[in-house]
This record gives sequence, structure tokens and C-alpha cells, in this order.
Amino acid sequence: MVALREDLRLALDCVAFARELGIVPDGWQEDFLRSSADRVLLNCSRQSGKSTMSAVIALHRALYHPGSLVLCLAPALRQSQELFAKIGGFYKDLGRPVAPQGERKLSLELENGSRIITLPGSEKTIRGFSGTSLLVLDEAARVEDELYFAVRPMLAVSGGALMMLSTPYGKRGVFYEEWIGGHGWERYEVPASKCPRISEGFLEEERASLPPFIFRQEYECSFEETEDQVFTTDLIDRAVTDEVKPLFGTGG
Ligand SMILES: Nc1ncnc2c1ncn2[C@@H]1O[C@H](COP(=O)(O)OP(=O)(O)OP(=O)(O)O)[C@@H](O)[C@H]1O
Ligand SMILES: [Mg+2]
Repeated sequence: MVALREDLRLALDCVAFARELGIVPDGWQEDFLRSSADRVLLNCSRQSGKSTMSAVIALHRALYHPGSLVLCLAPALRQSQELFAKIGGFYKDLGRPVAPQGERKLSLELENGSRIITLPGSEKTIRGFSGTSLLVLDEAARVEDELYFAVRPMLAVSGGALMMLSTPYGKRGVFYEEWIGGHGWERYEVPASKCPRISEGFLEEERASLPPFIFRQEYECSFEETEDQVFTTDLIDRAVTDEVKPLFGTGG
């Protein structure tokens, strides 16, 4: 497999690399694979391929950029494991083009010095990684804010890339905040209607059987009011205005 390892075309072009894995990327997927942005937000429909594309990018990084540290993180270990399993699957499909030094359930270490590590979704156990080249946050809308704040410094010195991918989950949390107002992000919005593998017929069936706000959330990239929210976010935003002086002093 030395040929694959040294194939400059694959090293330079992540789309060619995806094709080598038997994937024909959709339009947005090509853009994402070719992107050189180091801050990326994917607000995508269920099953649109966001985890798969991140797995391709993660493996490409580890194979062709020796010494890379790639971290996979999700709200629960099971979800980060799923992402890691996709990466491991691709690595095997390619015939392990760079030899493994350590191949474990939650991590893959390559002889070129790159490591891909799965992290559990708990803020207490993830500290301590530095020199991160790529951090992939899957199901990012469901990640606790504390977790996000704990991982960001891992990119500080290394200047590593951060990718947050998710289907929306209410108007709350860092994924939502970054999506609507964060600076420096490259954004992708991919509703199910743009996914060639999701048929119109299936979507109609889902529309008929799901509560409308769930349908919009899962398939239309929509940040819906959270289920347990009595007042809409818009109503609350309008109620909390700084035009009204507080009744009691705020100490200032
Ligand atoms: N370009 C493509 N060509 C063929 N199959 C694809 C392509 N992109 C994604 N898929 C397939 O679509 C399915 C869904 O992909 P994936 O799990 O990456 O989606 P997702 O957006 O992460 O979904 P979820 O929201 O459920 O986590 C997988 O079986 C994957 O292999
Ligand atoms: Mg996924």
C-alpha cells in the first residue's frame, strides 16, 4: 500500500481521497472536503453525511500530516465511538496505508506519529490534550457548554482546526450561539431536500408522522423553540430589553 501512501494526488485532494474510499461526494460535501477553513459549522439534516465527511477529513489529516493529533468528541462516548468507528472502517478499507502502532477501541496511533483519539463527552475527563491539529465535535448542538469551553483551549497553541457538526437542537447552547452570531466560521446548511439519498416520498411520510417542529429540526436545519419552553425565545428576547431600567439598582 506504499503507492497509496505516497500518492500525491490523494494527499493534496481530499475529494480524490473520498473517491478512493468509494464515496462520490455531494456538492456541499466536496466544498467541505476541499475547505481549508479552520473553523467550520455544519448545520445539516439527519443522515446527510456529516459524520461520514468528518471521518474522511480526520483520516486524511492523520495519514498525510504526520504527527497530527485528531480528537473526536460528542455528547456521549457512544457517539464519539461511532465517529471513530467510521474512521477506523475507512482506514481498514484502504488497507492501513500507514502502519498502525497502536489500534485500540478508542484510539488509533500511526507510525507517522499521528493519533486519532475518541473522547468521552465529559468535561472532567478530557482535559490534558495539547497540540491538537483537528477537533471534531459531532452532535454539537447537544454538547454541554462546559465541554465546549473545556476543549477550545486545546487548539490555542497548535492553531488546530475545529469542526462542529450537528442537526439543530433548540435555540440554546454554543452550537446555536455560534451559528447565529459567531465570528470566523465557515458555515454549511444542508436540509434533507438537498440530500440525494433522502427521497421526497420518505420526507413526505416523515412530515405526516412527526410533530411539525421535530420535522423542521431534523430535516430542515431549523433551530426550534425547546420543547419545555413555555414562552418562545423571541418573546423572551423582546421581554428582556435594556430600554427598561431595572427596578432595583444593579450595584453600578
Ligand atoms: N456522498 C455519499 N455517497 C453515498 N453515501 C453517503 C454519502 N454521504 C453519506 N452517505 C451515507 O449516508 C448515511 C448517513 O451518513 P452519516 O451517518 O454520515 O450522516 P449524518 O449526517 O452524520 O447522520 P446522523 O444525523 O443520523 O448522525 C451513511 O450510510 C453514509 O455512508
Ligand atoms: Mg452523524
